[in-house]
Order: sequence, then structure tokens, then C-alpha cells
Amino acid sequence: MQFGEKCCCKDKISSSTKCTKLDPAVCLELQKIIEAIATSGKGLLACDESPASLDQRFQELGIENTEVTRCAYREMLLSADKSQLSRYISGVILHHETIYQKTSKNVEFVELLRQRNIVAGIKVDRGLVPLLGTEDEKTTQGLDDLWENCIRYKKEGCHFAKWRCVFSISERCPSQLAMNINANVLARFASICQSARMVPIVEPEILNNGEYDIDRALRVHEEMLSTLFRTLNEHHVYLEGMVLKPAMVLSRIQKPTRCTPQIVAEYTLRALRRTVPTAIPAIFFLSGGQNDEESVLNLNAINMHDDKKPWRLSFCYGRALQNAAMKIWKNNLENINKAQVIFLERAELCSKASLGELQFGENETCTRNTNDIF
Ligand code: 13P
Repeated sequence: MQFGEKCCCKDKISSSTKCTKLDPAVCLELQKIIEAIATSGKGLLACDESPASLDQRFQELGIENTEVTRCAYREMLLSADKSQLSRYISGVILHHETIYQKTSKNVEFVELLRQRNIVAGIKVDRGLVPLLGTEDEKTTQGLDDLWENCIRYKKEGCHFAKWRCVFSISERCPSQLAMNINANVLARFASICQSARMVPIVEPEILNNGEYDIDRALRVHEEMLSTLFRTLNEHHVYLEGMVLKPAMVLSRIQKPTRCTPQIVAEYTLRALRRTVPTAIPAIFFLSGGQNDEESVLNLNAINMHDDKKPWRLSFCYGRALQNAAMKIWKNNLENINKAQVIFLERAELCSKASLGELQFGENETCTRNTNDIF
């Protein structure tokens, strides 16, 4: 079966699969999906923002936020030049709404992606809720009907699914409770998702919005990732059949001289090396509020670094791929081509960074503009 095709083999997913060990055929299928999305020089586009998350971004640009404008916006992105888009992007994470929408040419989005040899994925969590008993920490809801949803999305042609939990860093956070609960939630998601023959994209996002230095960020990454992998193992998640989507190790209070791409790479790789098993085939970073330039330079430095890297290290960016194109598009038909060109330029830069192919001097800082360099 080509990825993206609708799956109609209902009987292959028996309900007994749900609670038992994964069938070897399912393991093989998960590996094949990962091979397709973790291709050298390619990464993922996350355009799975909820209507509420898009609201703020659209509002800032004076774009009306309706089902129709969200559909037009996603059509602008996903119908960009076919050969270029599929050269840089191997998979796209869609929002539930997009799965049931069609382009202006009456093509379903999953089908549009299939025609471009891009694998469709879906965000399956239902957003953040307060984690009671903590100081304003959060967990993520959506587990109750996850199994049924995954089966439905698989039939619609989606082959991987994303779930995001968040952690903040402060004097007392993340608490042990938040780490344990969210690691369990992510592991439950991953095992349910795998039993429905979808690759889980496990996203434990450490938010980069507190007043801490990069050494503290490193310690929190190590603690959280080791809790997460211990829990994934306790849940018997098939590690070869999942992808990790973490943040990079960053500090927004650090002086630029202490936060060069080389240092971010050093710290990020140290955290990963100490905690992520080599059985994990791929790690796709989120951009997490880094500006466009940082997101490219940091990924490039990670891939250029001499450290041992037993995983494919690439991008699964939302804002860092879309920001520039959204600003140009502004829901104006005349701007579509220009917005698509900018979007593809961003995708090309991220692709090169995923190969560590961008050249820049040793003294570059996080804030240096890529336009000055390339
Ligand atoms: P950003 O790259 O904008 O952080 O988004 C990625 C994502 O999918 C967050 O869940």
C-alpha cells in the first residue's frame, strides 16, 4: 500500500491487537512508515494548529479566522510546487478539520499529499488541561477515545500521529508529578497509536519561556527524557516504531556568546546521548518559538557536530516553516505564488540544515540572520 492511500482492510485491525504485544507485521509496517518519513534531507511540516492557536497569528496579520480561510491557507502551503515540496518535506501533520476539507479543485488534503509522495499524519491530542495538585502545570487530554480515533484516521490515510505534552522550567517546575503523569500519558498514547498501526510522534515539549540558564535547561531535559524513556519501556512501546519530537536545549536569558548554535548543538546532543536509546530511529525537533534563523542555524550545528548521532536528526517545524509565508499570504489570491516561494525557501534551508550542509563561521550567534550568510 502506498502511504496516503485510504485503508479499507478493517479486519487487519482486530480489537485483540489493542491489548496484546504488537504483531511482527505491524512492527514491519511501522518501520516502513518511519523509513518513508525519516528520509535523508527531509523533515516534517506541522500545520496542525487548532483554530484557537491560529486565531492569534491570523489576528496579528488581519486575517479572518474561519473554516474557509484556514482551508485556503493550508491549500496555499500544501499545493506549493510539487517537486520542490516533496524534495524537502516527507510528511505533514494535519489538524482534524483539514482531513475533512478539500482544496479549491475538490481534492481531499490527504489525497493531495499522497499525489506528492508525502505521508499524511494527524494531531490526535485534545489540548492542554490543568494538572491539578501542581503549581499551574499542565497535562494533555484525549486518551479516552484515542483508539477509535486512530483507527478512523488510519482509514482516512494517515500513517502517523502526534501528541504533545508541555513542561515549564521554573524554580520548582517541572515537578516530579508532572514528569511522571505526562510520561505516562505519552506512553499510553504511543502504545495505543502503534496498536492502530500508526507511528507515534512523541512530543514532550520543554517550553523556552522562563528565566533559567542553559545548564538548568540541560538538567531538566535529561531528567524529563530519562523519565519518559523509562516509562515508554514500562508500557512496552516498540521503540523502533516511534519518533521523538523534543525541543532543543536553549536559554532565552543567555548572552548570545553563550548561546551560539555550536553551544546549543553541544547541549542538545549531550541531553539526547545520555537519555535516548539508539533504538529510536529518528528525532525531529520542534521550533518552539525560535526565530526563523535560529531554528535553521541550530539544526545545522546539531547535524554538523562531531558527536555520535545514532538517530536521524531533522525538523518537524510549525512556526519556523510557516511564519514568513503566512505574513505574505494574508488571504489574498495575488500573494499565493510569492508566499509559496518563501515557504519553499524555508523548507529548503531546513532541509540543508538537516544535513548539516549550511556553512557559517565559528563566531556566529543565534541571532545572526541567515540572509547574511547564504
Ligand atoms: P513549532 O515548530 O511552531 O514549535 O510547532 C511544532 C509543533 O508541532 C508543536 O506541537
